[in-house]
Amino acid sequence: MLAKTGDDVWPAKDYARIPYWLFTDEELYQQELEKIFRGSTWNYVGLDVEIPDWGDFKTTYVGETPIIVSRGKEGELIALVNRCGHRGAMVRRETHGNERTHTCIYHRWCYSLEGDLIGIPFKRGVNGKGGLDATFDQKEHGLQRLRIESFKGMMFVTFDHEMQSLHDYLGPLNREQIARIMCKPIKVLGFQKQIIKGNWKLYQENLRDTYHASLLHSFFVTFGLDRVTNPGGTRLDESKGHSFVFNRPDPAAADTLVNEASSQVYASEGVKAERVNLEDTWFLSFHKQYDDDMRLYLACLFPNAHYQQMNNCLNTRQMIPRGPDMFEVVWTVFGYEDDTEDLAELRKFQANFIGPAGFVSMEDAEVIENMQTAFRNEREACAVVEMGGRGAILTDCDNKVNEIPIRGFWSRYARLMGLEPTGAER
Ligand SMILES: [Fe+2]
Repeated sequence: MLAKTGDDVWPAKDYARIPYWLFTDEELYQQELEKIFRGSTWNYVGLDVEIPDWGDFKTTYVGETPIIVSRGKEGELIALVNRCGHRGAMVRRETHGNERTHTCIYHRWCYSLEGDLIGIPFKRGVNGKGGLDATFDQKEHGLQRLRIESFKGMMFVTFDHEMQSLHDYLGPLNREQIARIMCKPIKVLGFQKQIIKGNWKLYQENLRDTYHASLLHSFFVTFGLDRVTNPGGTRLDESKGHSFVFNRPDPAAADTLVNEASSQVYASEGVKAERVNLEDTWFLSFHKQYDDDMRLYLACLFPNAHYQQMNNCLNTRQMIPRGPDMFEVVWTVFGYEDDTEDLAELRKFQANFIGPAGFVSMEDAEVIENMQTAFRNEREACAVVEMGGRGAILTDCDNKVNEIPIRGFWSRYARLMGLEPTGAER
């Protein structure tokens, strides 16, 4: 049962209460696929270094729609729906490859890189019998073409041929931060994939939730990578849907990362800050590469993209919904072409922060599955999202004990879904 208006959905106009049914409702999920993933959003689909040459392609998804992203003869990017115009089979099944045409395995219908239908076996039948009627118009049965643009090597696709450019969609906050991390030619070091049995919006909340980072993730707090006592904060763009959370090293703990006064703050809150130890601390070493002192940040791009620096581990994440109670995360770990061997090795090692068996991200998956189980059939109760205060959603916060970016996500979500309450506090 889907509520008809925003006023029916939201108990609080500032999105400080999130009804749990929003994470489980099948009908709502179908509307999300239509209004968000096939609607007016740019969806991250990968890095353009994955397909450098003419004919290179990768397959992925926008929402639940399978797509092919490929490189044309002139170096242009092409995005097509990966579904045969004949009977609907996925034309490409490989994750990556290089071909000048795409041929469906079912009946060998063949398409150009641009998606035009260029070959149909037995089109005129055999010996004048069977085949297609002369009225069949081959031009009408190509692969559906989508809009694709890239910014500093990150590729995005949209179903909406009318909406604003990717440049405008990203806005100044993302353009600045993507330019920082994509400051020179990059090299992909590897991929990780993870299926999480929870609703996709729990992941979007999790990555905007700077409050949980040093409470759920023992590794962060034990080794001083992310403590609420470190300088840091949250930034939102004007739409409130994109966010950026960041953390700078504690100036009082420059070498060891961990400072005693900070540990006392955690102890006074009943949190033990030193539960584990490392035999070899090389894993925590940091090679400074940028003009600023940021060592840990995570950017969230509405609806499905994330890019991150964790010490020297650089990665992007693409989130793909797979029904109301499941989603997939594709992690792409990268470095720069001119990295020394040692630095590339360190980046690969530090990729152990992330992914299904990482020192950090495994815990996010666990807690999301735990939440989905806890409110599976709940139709009334709500989550409480008040850390950092209520009311208008602030774009700039100089502390990390706040949940404001989560309210920002819901504000943009509600507008796109046509479910904004009367008098909404944005
Ligand atoms: Fe987390």
